[in-house]
Amino acid sequence: MSELIPDPAAIAAAAHLLEQGELVAFPTETVYGLGADAENPQAVAKIYAAKGRPANHPLIVHLAPAADIGYWAEQIPAQAQQLIAAFWPGPLTLILKRAAHIPDTVSGGQDSIGLRCPSHPVAQALLREFKGGRGGVAAPSANKFGHVSPTTARHVRDEFGAPPQSPLAAILDGGQSEVGIESTILDLSRMASHGPVLLRPGHISPQQIAAVIGVVPALPDGAAPRASGTLEAHYAPVTPVALVAPQHVAEVVRRLAAGGHRAALMRRASGSLEETCAQLVLPDTPAGYAHALYAALREMDAAGADIILVEAPPTGPEWQGVNDRLRRAAHDSTAVLAALLKPAL
Ligand code: TXA
Ligand code: MG
Repeated sequence: MSELIPDPAAIAAAAHLLEQGELVAFPTETVYGLGADAENPQAVAKIYAAKGRPANHPLIVHLAPAADIGYWAEQIPAQAQQLIAAFWPGPLTLILKRAAHIPDTVSGGQDSIGLRCPSHPVAQALLREFKGGRGGVAAPSANKFGHVSPTTARHVRDEFGAPPQSPLAAILDGGQSEVGIESTILDLSRMASHGPVLLRPGHISPQQIAAVIGVVPALPDGAAPRASGTLEAHYAPVTPVALVAPQHVAEVVRRLAAGGHRAALMRRASGSLEETCAQLVLPDTPAGYAHALYAALREMDAAGADIILVEAPPTGPEWQGVNDRLRRAAHDSTAVLAALLKPAL
């Protein structure tokens, strides 16, 4: 049976565990989530403990398609309804004013709340079953804080171990996440003063958003709400990652090999560069690249290399989500590459 077809018994058991205050990992179309009952502060605290995530970093609440967003948020602007009609279920998270009765543990103490309705059939089945479809499942990506997000159930087991030897009570398997990078996050919580603000680029582009609400979202200024995915050192493998312009890849590989260093290489076209310890060719479309990206980073991380070289993708707007994640994976590793390339004295 396809992993995309939810197994009713597994869904019922997982929903029951969530209702008991346990953690359940589940697939979404973006990445796998580490879920807990959003209205149970003790359950939400388990997410922060399992991830090693600071408690002031807000979580996204996942809702069933028929959910009442008026239960979760207030002062909902018309643009939110338009975007929900256009993109839900799907990889778009909206930040709105949090309704007063929703515990602030889920939003790291902020007065806003992140809401998303995922399209993955297993996620939808779980959300429909949990509290009869009226609950919300708080879920960050199911990885340790700062690490690469998981796009398969195996990645989740690699991060946390398998139940019962794990802080997770269950892991639902829904195959490989289709989109592969986290949802686009749009802040509508300060519409009157700031307009729509793009907190995290993703599969749904600023242009697609503008086509619905008639205005291109602004980029965050210093006063925008905290988004942990916007920290510099996010989405990073353990091995340093360096972005290399296509025209320099061959020379960098050759010089690293000449210096006795082991390089792993993520390329965008096949060719012959024999001097690496591992090599992967990624698809040449933004959607294909995003779909493969995190599994590729994990594979390269396991290759025992001194550095992971990534042939830089194009910089066009449709590559924004991918380039954002690559820049964060590489954060301050450029200095590592420079040091490896320095000729020995
Ligand atoms: O695709 C996704 O969004 C995945 C799947 C599981 O749905 N989830 C995800 O969660 O990426 P997480 O926690 O890894 O990243 C969520 C981001 C964080 O950067 C968080 O700070 C931001 O959303 N966020 C959540 N609620 C927020 C709020 N009220 N205000 C500002 N940022 C918020
Ligand atoms: Mg994350």
